[in-house]
Amino acid sequence: MLSKVQSVAVWGIEGHPVSVEVDISRGIPGISIVGLPDQAVKESKDRIKPAIKNSGFDFPQSKITINLAPADLRKEGSCFDVPIALGILAAKQVIPLQVFDDFYFVGELALDGSVRPVSGVLPMAIFVKSKRGKFVVPFSNALEASVVGIDVYPVGSLKECIDFLLGKKEIRPFKCDREKLFAQYSKYEVDFREVKGQSLARRAIEVAVAGGHNILMIGPPGAGKSMIAKRIPTIFPSLEIEEAIEITKIHSVAGTLDGGIVSVRPFRQPHHTISDIALIGGGAIPKPGEISLAHNGVLFLDEIPEFHRDVLEALRQPMEDGKVVISRAKGKIEFPSRFFLVAAMNPCPCGYYGDSRMACRCTTAQIIKYRKKISGPLLDRIDIHIEVSALGSKQLVSDQICEDSESIRKRIEKSRKIQIERFKGTGIFCNGHMNTKHLKQFCVLDDECKNFLQRALEQMHLSARGYDRVIKVARTIADLEESEQINLSHISEALQYRSFDREL
Ligand SMILES: Nc1ncnc2c1ncn2[C@@H]1O[C@H](COP(=O)(O)OP(=O)(O)O)[C@@H](O)[C@H]1O
Ligand SMILES: [Mg+2]
Repeated sequence: MLSKVQSVAVWGIEGHPVSVEVDISRGIPGISIVGLPDQAVKESKDRIKPAIKNSGFDFPQSKITINLAPADLRKEGSCFDVPIALGILAAKQVIPLQVFDDFYFVGELALDGSVRPVSGVLPMAIFVKSKRGKFVVPFSNALEASVVGIDVYPVGSLKECIDFLLGKKEIRPFKCDREKLFAQYSKYEVDFREVKGQSLARRAIEVAVAGGHNILMIGPPGAGKSMIAKRIPTIFPSLEIEEAIEITKIHSVAGTLDGGIVSVRPFRQPHHTISDIALIGGGAIPKPGEISLAHNGVLFLDEIPEFHRDVLEALRQPMEDGKVVISRAKGKIEFPSRFFLVAAMNPCPCGYYGDSRMACRCTTAQIIKYRKKISGPLLDRIDIHIEVSALGSKQLVSDQICEDSESIRKRIEKSRKIQIERFKGTGIFCNGHMNTKHLKQFCVLDDECKNFLQRALEQMHLSARGYDRVIKVARTIADLEESEQINLSHISEALQYRSFDREL
């Protein structure tokens, strides 16, 4: 007897149909599975047999052949446990075939027959929606699946699922109000209000976020670099629900989703020992890396000189394109990776160069070597460098309350509107993404500004690239002031944000 059950697999961040066909025939008892990688097949068999028995059903002592079609789609094993088990029972005529109609099933089985959550349920649910199907999912995945607005049937065990299909147990479709869910969790746990003093750093960060300029903070240990970095997502323009769904899809596939929907901008802080695959994404069945998990949010690379050079090099292309492209035999996979880069480093190997609290123990040669560890091309994608010095004890213990994130965000949202208007039809939406052509068109300087900039460049030994960067940042500073024209004060402020270019 032959049965067919519908399921879904994830490839990249999209759901694809998988049909689970089960044939039971006479022959030597055993299970063979076609369409899964070897290791996954073995593990699936070991789970499905006890799960069926422990749910109170006989496991057929026959030859069982299972086909997961299409064969050329790479699949992860565990999420097909439930459809395979159902297929076996249907082929044995425990469950009538017609009840499967427009249902799709995913779920991993535990040996006792309970159903465990799987990753990638959101993209799967989007697929099921496109087919106007109904989706049976593990209990803990129900919220995530329901975000797309389909009928979701959560099940806790194989037995429950079978009783539901046989009409012995009612399961009401699970629904969520995604706007409400989104609003409920769209609060950050930290706020810029908590950062005392540091007016220069605060201003530089406001400019950076306003124009989408990646930023590098240089300062001694304890200066508050990590504290500031963590608060950067809180001043970004409020997250729109479409952006949130896009982020949630990535986190769903990566298995890092906590709750139904990502409601705040991500903040990712990979350790400097991270591998390039973990940072960029990859693997046999490609999974998104940290840069995609930071999509629409902040990627914080603390102690950037400690990162492996190859790893930093690998960042370049995705930063340029806003996405990671991974090639596999079956075709390309794309993961979005439009993130805001925040890098931090000590000024020297010991950390205290230029600090008033402690003397630096490094030689000039050591300091130069340390700074050279950041690759030039990566530095080229960072428009703003700032020095962050440690707060004095008096300021640190004061009860001073500083401006909160919301007030900063309002100014940033205003300047982003100006930029979106300016770049209509150009394919970019903020000053940080301007190329040479855009610069010519949108950043016209008068003679006074040009002369001033030329003199400054000579004094600071800025390269041509540094020059472009100063103008871009000056454009943002002008936008924050709602000034159409870039003037001297904008340029001189922008010049201050190139501290890494200055010689020791
Ligand atoms: N400007 C500041 N306002 C309030 N607390 C601060 C400030 N700067 C540093 N601190 C305190 O010092 C701690 C260490 O700062 P941290 O961000 O880890 O420094 P860094 O990353 O530069 O080494 C913070 O957790 C915070 O408690
Ligand atoms: Mg730190």
